Formats: sequence, C-alpha cells, structure tokens
Amino acid sequence: MCGIVGYVGPRDCSDVLVSALTKLEYRGYDSAGIAVFENGKIEVAKSKGRLTDLVAKMEREGKPVGHAGIGHTRWATHGEPSDINSHPHSGRRVTIVHNGIIENYKDIKKFLIENDRTEFLSDTDTEVVAQLLDFYYDGNPVRCIRKVLHEIRGSFALGIVFADRPETVYAVRCESPLIVGQGHGEAFIASDVPAIIKYTKNYFLLEYGEIAVLKNGLASFCDLHGRMVEKELKTADFDEDSAEKGGYPHFMLKEIHEQPTAVKTTITPRIEGGLPNLTECGITPEALREFNNIFIVACGTAMHAGMVGKYVIEKLARVSVTVDIASEFRYRDPLIQKNDLVIIISQSGETADSKAVLNLVKGTGAKTLAIVNVKGSSIAREADMVIYTHAGPEIAVASTKAYMVQLSVIYLLAFEMAYAKGTIDEEECQKLTLELVRVPEVIQQTIDRIENVCRYVSTKLITADSLLYIGRGLDYALSMEGSLKLKEISYIHSESYAAGELKHGTISLITEGMPVIAVATQNSLFEKTLSNIKEVKARGAMAIVICDLKSEIDLDSANYIIRIPKISEMLMPMVATVPMQLLAYYTSVNKGNDVDKPRNLAKSVTVE
Ligand code: G6P
Repeated sequence: MCGIVGYVGPRDCSDVLVSALTKLEYRGYDSAGIAVFENGKIEVAKSKGRLTDLVAKMEREGKPVGHAGIGHTRWATHGEPSDINSHPHSGRRVTIVHNGIIENYKDIKKFLIENDRTEFLSDTDTEVVAQLLDFYYDGNPVRCIRKVLHEIRGSFALGIVFADRPETVYAVRCESPLIVGQGHGEAFIASDVPAIIKYTKNYFLLEYGEIAVLKNGLASFCDLHGRMVEKELKTADFDEDSAEKGGYPHFMLKEIHEQPTAVKTTITPRIEGGLPNLTECGITPEALREFNNIFIVACGTAMHAGMVGKYVIEKLARVSVTVDIASEFRYRDPLIQKNDLVIIISQSGETADSKAVLNLVKGTGAKTLAIVNVKGSSIAREADMVIYTHAGPEIAVASTKAYMVQLSVIYLLAFEMAYAKGTIDEEECQKLTLELVRVPEVIQQTIDRIENVCRYVSTKLITADSLLYIGRGLDYALSMEGSLKLKEISYIHSESYAAGELKHGTISLITEGMPVIAVATQNSLFEKTLSNIKEVKARGAMAIVICDLKSEIDLDSANYIIRIPKISEMLMPMVATVPMQLLAYYTSVNKGNDVDKPRNLAKSVTVE
C-alpha cells in the first residue's frame, strides 16, 4: 500500500513528483505530500485527501520549487488520514516517505523518548523512522540508513532526503517494491514502473536491503554492508499509452475492453502444434505428472480465479485441488507434502499474505508456481516456477483484465496437466486448446453485444441496499467474482451463494424487489439453477439472469435476461465474466462513485 516516488534532475521536481504520484494513486489515495529541496532547504507540502487536493493546496499556497525531492500517496495504516499524518515525515535533519509497515515502531519510539527525543507530531510509524534516522545521523547518510535498517522490522520501502545533502535522494527497499528509473541526466525512484514511464523506460529493480543514491542525475547502489553493487538496467515492455486512459472515461472500462488482446497475448506464446506448452515457464509434462495434491492460494480477485481453477483442474486432470485465502492459509498449519504443488496467483506479485505463503512452503518439498502479472515482482522471483500473464499494467483498483488472463493461464495449465496425466487424450487436449484460442474473439463479441444491455440493467440496481449473486458449479465460482466486483465499486452489499444452498437460510433475506443475479451458463446444471431463479422470483426478487443465447428461459422466469455467446461449458466463465464486470462498472458510474479509486481500497496490498 502507499506509493512513493523521488526525483533528481533538471525538470521541475514538484511537477515530476505529482505526475508520477498520479500513476501510483491506485496504491492508496487518502492523502499525499512531497518534499523538495528549494534553494538548498527541504520544503514540504502535504494534504489530506486526493492528489488533486494537494495540487489545489499548492496552487493556493505555492509549490516547492527545485530539482530534487520525494513524494507519497497514502493508504492509512497507522493514524487516520489527516494533514499531520500525511507523508513526508521529518526528524530534525531528515525527511522521509514510506511504503509498508514498521512492526517494532512502538519499541523504537520508547527508545527514542528514553533518549530525550520527544518531538512526535503524528500517529504514524513512519515518523518514528524519520526520528531514528535523525538520532543516528552523523553526516554519513548511507551509514546512518544501514544502522537504522538493522533496528527496524517490517516490510517497507523508504525515500529519504537529508537536509545537509541537497539535491540528493536516498532510497532503500526491504520487501515493499521499489524501482529506480534512469533517464538522460535524471534519476527517479518509484513503487512501480508506470509512475515514471512518461520519462524513461529504463529502470533498476532494487533488491532486499539495497540502498540507492540519486545524485547529479545518476543512480548508484550499495548493499546492506555498504559494498557497491552493479545492477542490471532493465527496459519496460510497455509504453506511456498503456498507463493512460486512451479516450475511455475510466481505466476500468479501458481494461475491460483490453481483455481480448490481453488473453491473446498471454496464451499465444504458450501454444505449440495446437497443444499447451509451458516449458518456457519451467513446467514440463514429466513434472506435472508427479504432483499429488494442488493448493491454490491467493487474495481477492486472484483467489476467485483459483476457484475456477479448482473446478477445471479437478474435472480434467482428476487431481485434488484446495483453494485458500492466503491470509488464512499461512496461519492454519496446512498439510503440505512433498509432491504437492502450491500455486500462488497474484496480479501485483507483491501481496503480503500471498508472498508469505512462499516461505511457508519452503522446506516441505512441495513446489511453488506463481501466476503473476508484474514482471520481476517479489512473488515471481521467489517461486520455483512462474507463468507471467501478459495483461499489461492494470490501473483500476477493481481487477478485470488481470482476472481474465489468470483464467486463461489456469485453463492452459489444466489442459496440459490433464494431458500429461493421461486423463484426456491428445485429440481432446487439442480441441480444448483450440476453443481457448477462440475465446478472445468471443469476449469481443460479448462486449459488443451486451455493453448497452448491462448499462440499462445497472440502472435497476442503483437503489438496492443489498443483492445476491447465485450460481452452481463453475457459475458459482464465477459469481464470487461478480459479487466482489459489484460491492467493491458500487458499495452495494452483495453476497455470492451456491444456488442450491439458498433454501438453507439465505432465502429468508429475499424481499420485494431485491436483485438476485443468477449466472446460469452451465447447461448441465441449467434446469436446477432455473428452479432456484423461479423460487426467488416467486418471493418477490428482481431476477437478473446471465445465460447463453440458446438457453430456454423467458421473462416469466426472470425480470431481465443478459444473453451471451455460447462456447464450451467449461470455458464459459471467460465469457460470463464480461457482463458481471460491466454491471459493476455501470452501477458504479450511475451512482456517481469514483470507479477507479473506490473508497478504502488499494490495488496492491503490501501489508498484512
Ligand atoms: C487487492 C485488490 C484486489 C486484488 C487483491 C489481490 O485487494 O484490490 O483487486 O485482487 O488485492 O492482489 P494481487 O495483486 O495479489 O492479485
């Protein structure tokens, strides 16, 4: 959570910091601030609220003018969002921005107070680090940072400026992501590459415990022991346009529309001779044959992709799959054995709970496979095997295209595993793979066909206080994501329920006009789901049904029917996801919500 940036170079530093922070607002947006060297002195501007509030404040009161500084956009952990708690925070000679959590900040604060350091203004853990840096500062910034690193615990990345080291920015990373951009005569720090892509595509990935020094437009590095480090310069494989709205009113809508291309880019390089081929990702048929049990562990939307994975892998490959929420899995002492496979799904590759699962698996003999979107992210680097999804940067907090490409990879893996284990033959595997290849085109047809329908149906949802998503089998797995999407951005309470389980309690919630969205794309279960739809409608519910073009259902059984193109039952989740995304999107738009930055949420949850 939180986004940090820094700049050293010839441009107007405040402008660069604000521009870079705009691209990081997905990480948190309850306050923002910058610190810039102006005529050799650190000037701070910060404000509660969105970045636009900070910009307005600087327009009123003047912005710091200079060529080196640091900036921050916050998702509050310690202390409510307020001007005082906003970053940057300062000690006497040190000012910092911080992403992450300092676990032992109370002990450090006690130590500082015992040593007559009592000037704390905020409730944050960050200010304690600023004070500790100041306490140890003896005129050698790197030595001071190294000393503090040995005393603080947690996961964090810091941007630091020292009052007596003008025009210089220091940065350090422990767990929380941080990259260092290198342009011509200018250098940057940022929590993520899209923040600086407007200025440079070249960046260094800061490793755990490494310290960066940005001076005279150049970045240099040393490790925890103070030894200089030579780092490999990487080049981003996307450009500025990918991180812009490109004419769409919101990133979420743009990302929904990017799904056909994203799926195509993700699956095409992994198909050879009409069959899945994941060897480039370190996955061989021989290895797939050996796995006894599979665990899929993730958070939020990524966990929902895992739910679809369970149904598909178990059905095709006949291997037992357990899906778990990472924050539960890591503390429930799971029974992981040699020859098990633990799959971690994560768009960002930085989610704290998902990352912790990798440590848990170490030493059990089980193998880890990461399905990750962000290249070079922690989870991708630490897992035994990695399948990158190629969705490009996903900016909207509510995930759409990342979920879709996660599904596409899960299908490829399921097909390859089933073929390797002999539970399907080559012909069946080719047939399924060919059908998957058609999916991008079908997603496009679905968007074209139903976008206006969903826009209309969403107007029927905006007055609801609460609604249900129901489905059976894969439709149930999918409805979990539909429900999450809707509640995240429309703020309407929503639950997903297995349609057959409604009668065991939840049906008592149905009142006149309550929306119930039924996903009914699985032909083999259609009749049963239809009975459940009739049951809720008979009790006054407003029944909205998502089904294929051929399903036999009429307006006696449902109030609204959203019909989508039909492909094989197993692959229907990739098509049926589209109306669920569009319903959530247009409900949020119609309610006047901030679609891309829903309240209280952050896209990348790097704290526990
Ligand atoms: C946050 C985001 C969700 C995302 C989840 C897991 O809660 O708001 O959209 O699904 O984190 O993130 P990951 O990057 O691990 O997929």
